Amino acid sequence: MTSQVPSRIVITGANRGIGLEFVQEYLQEGQRVFALCRHPESAPALAEQHKEHPDLLTVLPCDVTDDVSVHHAFDDVAAQVDGIEVLINNSGSYGRKGGTVADLDFREIEAVFGVNTLGPLRVTRAFLPLLGEGNNPKVVNITSIMGSIHDNGTGGSYAYRLSKAALNMATRNLALDLREQEIICVAVHPGWVKTDMGGPEAPLTVDDSVSNMLRLIDSLDAQHSGGFFNYRGRELPW
Ligand SMILES: NC(=O)c1ccc[n+]([C@@H]2O[C@H](COP(=O)([O-])OP(=O)(O)OC[C@H]3O[C@@H](n4cnc5c(N)ncnc54)[C@H](OP(=O)(O)O)[C@@H]3O)[C@@H](O)[C@H]2O)c1
Repeated sequence: MTSQVPSRIVITGANRGIGLEFVQEYLQEGQRVFALCRHPESAPALAEQHKEHPDLLTVLPCDVTDDVSVHHAFDDVAAQVDGIEVLINNSGSYGRKGGTVADLDFREIEAVFGVNTLGPLRVTRAFLPLLGEGNNPKVVNITSIMGSIHDNGTGGSYAYRLSKAALNMATRNLALDLREQEIICVAVHPGWVKTDMGGPEAPLTVDDSVSNMLRLIDSLDAQHSGGFFNYRGRELPW
């Protein structure tokens, strides 16, 4: 971030993995961070960050599948700031890896959609009043190359692939819908990252991924809105 005034950043799924790294790196930059997670009372890494940055970090409960929870989170943020510059819809769920059409579990697919597709839409809609008051506001939907139809050469992982493909479409729709309000919306693939979801074989550390995504987010302007990028800013095929 180049601005002297701290940016106000909201991050979902902030208690571990990529979300937690976003929190840590934005705090190191001196930004004002709202870390949303399902269970703040059992988020020790966020408690640790709060001890170090009591004036910059607020930790709030938010389950992205629950309207009431999302609206409470919005109210709590709105009680403290009058606008936000960045919303990072990071929460994600994978469902079963691999699998074939024969063993589809439709309940599981619906649950993964609830987190990966409807979650970002629900949170974005709730936070629009604050985004509308932000300076050069941006919505960053953390998606996956697994949601790319063009890139799908191996199949499987129905719940995850479908939900991220739909998130990509939601991102383009949001970009068009919110163009007049000058809210930039992008879909970003973080790379294959060592987290609970990515597993230990992943080639990227959270720091490799998130430090690059921070640069990308900082550089976004209106011409990028509606785009699908990897963590280094390369445009990806839908
Ligand atoms: N790691 C990779 O290689 C990779 C690759 C491509 C895309 N991504 C995407 O990157 C994002 C972060 O993934 P990660 O690797 O950091 O995964 P992770 O370590 O499994 O973390 C997932 C996060 O999402 C939260 N979450 C799940 N359901 C939620 C709900 N209903 N409401 C609020 N939060 C919820 C989890 O909270 P709890 O602790 O409460 O469960 C956790 O904070 C996801 O969108 C994922 O799809 C990751």
